[in-house]
Amino acid sequence: MRKACVIGWPITHSRSPMIHGYWLKQLGIDGTYGKVAVKPEEARAFLRGLSAAGYAGCNVTVPLKEIAFETAVEKDASAVAVGAANTIWIEDGRICAANTDTYGFMMHLALSAPEWSELDKPVLVLGAGGAARAIVYGFLEAGIGRVVVTNRTRARAEALAAHFGARVVVLDWEKRSQGACEAGVIVNTTTIGMKGEGSLGLDLSSIADKRTVVADIVYVPLETELLAEARRRGLRTVDGLGMLLHQAVPGFEKWFGTRPVVTPELRDLIVADLEAQR
Ligand code: ATR
Repeated sequence: MRKACVIGWPITHSRSPMIHGYWLKQLGIDGTYGKVAVKPEEARAFLRGLSAAGYAGCNVTVPLKEIAFETAVEKDASAVAVGAANTIWIEDGRICAANTDTYGFMMHLALSAPEWSELDKPVLVLGAGGAARAIVYGFLEAGIGRVVVTNRTRARAEALAAHFGARVVVLDWEKRSQGACEAGVIVNTTTIGMKGEGSLGLDLSSIADKRTVVADIVYVPLETELLAEARRRGLRTVDGLGMLLHQAVPGFEKWFGTRPVVTPELRDLIVADLEAQR
């Protein structure tokens, strides 16, 4: 029987067991996916002992993603770009790491707003944390000419831009509404709007192009204030839940040998769980 898990500190709120548990059952695979609370100071040893403990690999969540990246021997391009890993597996006894947030976001975007790539306009990314890095990297890989990053703390946006090079430029946080008018895709990667708290203060009223895509990585609530406002204005919206579901696909395939599918039934399952906890 194959075994995987998610590690983090704390780990109680992770939805990964529900996602992978659904696929294990749906595909009739003899495997388990659990959750293990691992303290930051114990993470390195836990990952090094994964194989001996019978695990094929694991997901990694906050605050262990950087430690996982540093502990791994092999790292995929997205993990290197972000400096953090969320998916670990063992190959020939070596710890391998990936950051599947890039894949998760770009796949969900491609499926829910495929025409985004035809808009010959910059992408506006709000925020400059790990999620922003994963998403900026995805757009650069997709060949976008210009990514505009805006962040409350400008220095973090500048560090991100310096890391990725000339196609990434920084915009003052105070000018974010102007940036939104010029963008083909707008992505909120900040935690603003989570559980309905805070407001991005992004004015969408001057956006004339109704093809503009507005995406949020926050998925509690499923329709954030930003997405509700975008929908009211007739813009395309992309929610944060799809990214969560799609980022789980590559890990499952590595550990259990079958590439799973993000089905509407899986989505409904997680939506029901989110609603039950409100
Ligand atoms: P992650 O790695 O998951 O992306 P993070 O590194 O904590 O998370 O980043 C959170 C992002 O949300 C940051 O861009 C943060 O802005 P700062 O760099 O200025 O901290 C942004 N953020 C969080 N709360 C915010 C708020 N009230 N107003 C503006 N930005 C906020």
